[in-house]
Amino acid sequence: MDFDTVSFRKALGCFPTGIAVVTAGEGAEAKGITVNSFTSVSLKPPLVLWCLGKNSSRYEIFTKPVDFTISILSEAERAISTQLASGPDCSLTGLPLVEMQNGAPGIAGALTILECQRETIHDAGDHIIILASVLRFTSREDGAPLVYFRGRYGALMG
Ligand SMILES: Cc1cc2nc3c(=O)[nH]c(=O)nc-3n(C[C@H](O)[C@H](O)[C@H](O)COP(=O)(O)O)c2cc1C
Repeated sequence: MDFDTVSFRKALGCFPTGIAVVTAGEGAEAKGITVNSFTSVSLKPPLVLWCLGKNSSRYEIFTKPVDFTISILSEAERAISTQLASGPDCSLTGLPLVEMQNGAPGIAGALTILECQRETIHDAGDHIIILASVLRFTSREDGAPLVYFRGRYGALMG
């Protein structure tokens, strides 16, 4: 396995994904991170996962709280994705938010918002895998997803 990381990353980028924002913390303390590692895992019980880079400056922010919220972004929310992928300020100030019961706000206008409670953390190379139960969710019937493919944002062809 001595292939170079840049080529490997490029190869993996051929798998199109949606974009989600994970939020943790309450009120003015709430922070966010853009992720495309979000995956649904189980329907019964309801489980999802996402991966967090071990070298992220936000590591503590997203590993300390047990409760967090995942918002699956619509194609209209590209700017939010860009903002929360740029460090080091990952505060949610100025973003359209929805209050959630667990305290961590959702992104208003997102296609789906999942209120999550962490179950387990798994070590996985330069990332960790965060497996969580979904306690509550809201979901829109309309709207197209924000898509990520080969390092660029796009939309689904209608
Ligand atoms: C499209 C996209 C998807 C990303 N997915 C993830 C991810 O799944 N997990 C992760 O830890 N970081 C992911 N990132 C990186 C973070 O959004 C953010 O850029 C990074 O955490 C910034 O570094 P810092 O945490 O050290 O400030 C992604 C970035 C982009 C643009």
